[in-house]
Amino acid sequence: MAKVTFNKAQRWYPGADSPAVPGIDLEIDDGEFMVLVGPSGCGKSTTLRMLAGLEECNSGSIHIGDRDVTHMPPKDRDIAMVFQSYALYPHMTVADNMAFALKMAKVPEAERRKKVEEAAKILGLTEYLDRKPKALSGGQRQRVAMGRAIVRAPQVFCMDEPLSNLDAKMRVQTRTDIAKLQRDLGVTTVYVTHDQVEAMTMGDRVAVMKDGLLQQVDSPLNLYDKPANLFVAGFIGSPQMNLIEAKAVDGQAKIGDYLVPVDPAASRKMEGNITVGVRPENWRVVAQSEGGLPVDVTVIEELGADAFVYGTSGVEGTPHDIIVRVGGRDTIHKGETLYVTTDPANVHVFDTDTGERLSE
Ligand SMILES: Nc1ncnc2c1ncn2[C@@H]1O[C@H](COP(=O)(O)OP(=O)(O)OP(=O)(O)O)[C@@H](O)[C@H]1O
Ligand SMILES: [Mg+2]
Repeated sequence: MAKVTFNKAQRWYPGADSPAVPGIDLEIDDGEFMVLVGPSGCGKSTTLRMLAGLEECNSGSIHIGDRDVTHMPPKDRDIAMVFQSYALYPHMTVADNMAFALKMAKVPEAERRKKVEEAAKILGLTEYLDRKPKALSGGQRQRVAMGRAIVRAPQVFCMDEPLSNLDAKMRVQTRTDIAKLQRDLGVTTVYVTHDQVEAMTMGDRVAVMKDGLLQQVDSPLNLYDKPANLFVAGFIGSPQMNLIEAKAVDGQAKIGDYLVPVDPAASRKMEGNITVGVRPENWRVVAQSEGGLPVDVTVIEELGADAFVYGTSGVEGTPHDIIVRVGGRDTIHKGETLYVTTDPANVHVFDTDTGERLSE
């Protein structure tokens, strides 16, 4: 097992105007589950493929433990890769599919069988070992693909959206299985997804990418509680954080007539155009006399335990969408006006132009 280090690793595809990944610096601890997340085209797969040796690294370097693998062929890197498409051999049994890499590496048959049986036990595939892939469900096939990776006992697992072919229920189940398995095996893992919920639930740490650049690398809770910039604030969390443009005047933040309570650190730093972020669960409904932000309710989404109120607030003339989480049994009606406020600890202030976080 080993630590993985990207040192200004760059990938510039031939003929492209700019590099897909200009130079990534990232350190993944031994045994850590690191998730790369970001919108389509941000460079997640490129980064992972550089580590696996499937894309050339044009400058910078990549280390696995003490080994410089930057220009090493994929087969020598001691990595196992799991892709979105399972790419199982249809004519081979589950057992043979799992043993294939070991057979290529000339591992003796008795040892191959032992490793496959161990992996099958961990993955709950023992009773399927003699079946062909077509007689398996999508989730079971993905477990076979995992099994193929496990039997090789690599130093690093690289996984590129391994769950995206599964239906919603299977995804949630398999997500938990993979996370648990990784913890049991303790193999350093780099996992790519565009799904922020998947990233938050699986990763020890999550690296948020945009346009080939890392925006923030942090624990799931820190990303949620202290997003470093506007992009991360909007990307992490569902429904999305309310992001409202405001004006900073004498250390106070104003949205129309509503005075937003902000923390002292933000108050000192902010000036001019700022953006105020409040998560849906952090609004508090107050009486009109308490001077909250008025929200005209348009839709109420009842989820049982709680409900999301969607509304608009006339912010300096332009209606702005606002989402408020309320209790599942609160009586709120479409067409009414709510007044909401929050506390300084729950307000994220950003510089609108640079996107940078100004709050503590
Ligand atoms: N083989 C290639 N040749 C040229 N450009 C490429 C190649 N592969 C990817 N790119 C470009 O590099 C950028 C990053 O692509 P990459 O596949 O790493 O994104 P991604 O974050 O994995 O996206 P997705 O979520 O859609 O899989 C994109 O702009 C893409 O068009
Ligand atoms: Mg990709």
